[in-house]
Amino acid sequence: MEKLIIRGGKSLRGETQVGGAKNSVLKLMAASLLAETPSTIRNVPEIKDVFIMKEVLERLGAGVEFQNHVLSIEPSLNNFETPYELVSLMRASIIVLGPLVGRFGEARVAKPGGCNIGRRKINLHLKGLSQLGVEIRIDRGYIEATAKKIKGGRVFLEFPSVGATENLIMASVLAKGETIVIENAAREPEIVDLCNFLQAMGAKIEGIGESTLVIRGVDSLSGVDYSAIPDRIEAGTYLLAGAITGGEVYVSNANPEHLELFLMKLEEAGLEIKRLEKGISIRSEGYTESIDVATFPYPGFPTDLQPQIVALLALAEGVSVVTENIFENRFLYVDELNRLGADIEVKSNRAIINGVKELYGAPTSAPDLRGGAALILASLAAQGTSEVLNVSHIDRGYENIEKKLKSLGAQIERIESNEERSAGK
Ligand code: EPZ
Repeated sequence: MEKLIIRGGKSLRGETQVGGAKNSVLKLMAASLLAETPSTIRNVPEIKDVFIMKEVLERLGAGVEFQNHVLSIEPSLNNFETPYELVSLMRASIIVLGPLVGRFGEARVAKPGGCNIGRRKINLHLKGLSQLGVEIRIDRGYIEATAKKIKGGRVFLEFPSVGATENLIMASVLAKGETIVIENAAREPEIVDLCNFLQAMGAKIEGIGESTLVIRGVDSLSGVDYSAIPDRIEAGTYLLAGAITGGEVYVSNANPEHLELFLMKLEEAGLEIKRLEKGISIRSEGYTESIDVATFPYPGFPTDLQPQIVALLALAEGVSVVTENIFENRFLYVDELNRLGADIEVKSNRAIINGVKELYGAPTSAPDLRGGAALILASLAAQGTSEVLNVSHIDRGYENIEKKLKSLGAQIERIESNEERSAGK
């Protein structure tokens, strides 16, 4: 296992660039299976989850080339099964369910388990698909889905689930002659990106970005050359690196419109934000006001930036309360933050953060992707040297995180753990 060694206490200054959005690219890769001809997807981050999704598509028979942040996908499949070994590596593999039933009328995908942050159920995906005429059977841990034809109709999502919305859209676009209405659809920028990608392929979708989507099925779709939107969560993470260290950071290639409420909360906390044409800048006077934050579906405060803003508020003046409304268990990282000297108590789905003057370097272990990012941020602000273990969680969603932070002046190194070094001696 690898770990990061961070010598904290330095203000970060300078410019860094974000890559393509992980939570869009994975869905565009699945959506490319709906076309009869190849697609090219650009601005693709070189992160672990993309390589896993590449393998998911290859197992289905697709041809996938990935180099220099560009994916070329040849969507001719020879089977419709996604095995447990891949779904257990990345639960987002479930997103192939919609395209497989939409184009081929059949799919056999292992049921994803939960993960550290919550149970991650898929009942809304399955309920919605069955309302569109898909036969769903659970057989020894696998979802077997068959559909002679996707039926038109109206699906009302109990909760604006991102994944359920995406699977339903992709199951519907090839339902020739049918109209499918999805109510209470998720509105994240990544959903808009998926809809724009599908429209470019020839799909007919109205209400893009709204909570009511109207899809008119077409006969076939063609591959496209498409560039993914920038990663708003990566952008928010680097902005917080500037804030927590009392520095000044410009994140280029970020879209401020995708982070409006997040940026407003940072301004409420006393940070100076500039929303620019091609990016976002943040300046801190080394002082943060305590604020209250609650996560909600987009355009609410993004749950994927919750751990990171809690790290910032650990050093704020006064008491902040952060409420997590999306996942059942997204505070695992708090115990690790407290090892650095933070004073945070978790009660049910709330973190009560008593701001402290200083954090002190200590070893911590990343429990999940965004919790790990929060530990890096806190370590950058802590006095002295910290270690962050289990970096593999963080590599799922951040390309070259230590390189980007180093370019902002951070003292950060990635090293093999002792065991591996001695074995490799
Ligand atoms: C996507 O997950 C993202 N992942 C998550 O990002 C993100 O946190 C989440 O959307 C919310 O914005 C990808 O896009 C790959 P949901 P998804 O369906 O689609 C419950 C990251 O750090 N639910 O909106 O799984 C579910 O249990 C990751 O990049 C049901 O109960 O999110 C969860 O509590 C983490 N039944 C909540 O809804 C269902 O059928 C939100 O889930 C579906 C969801």
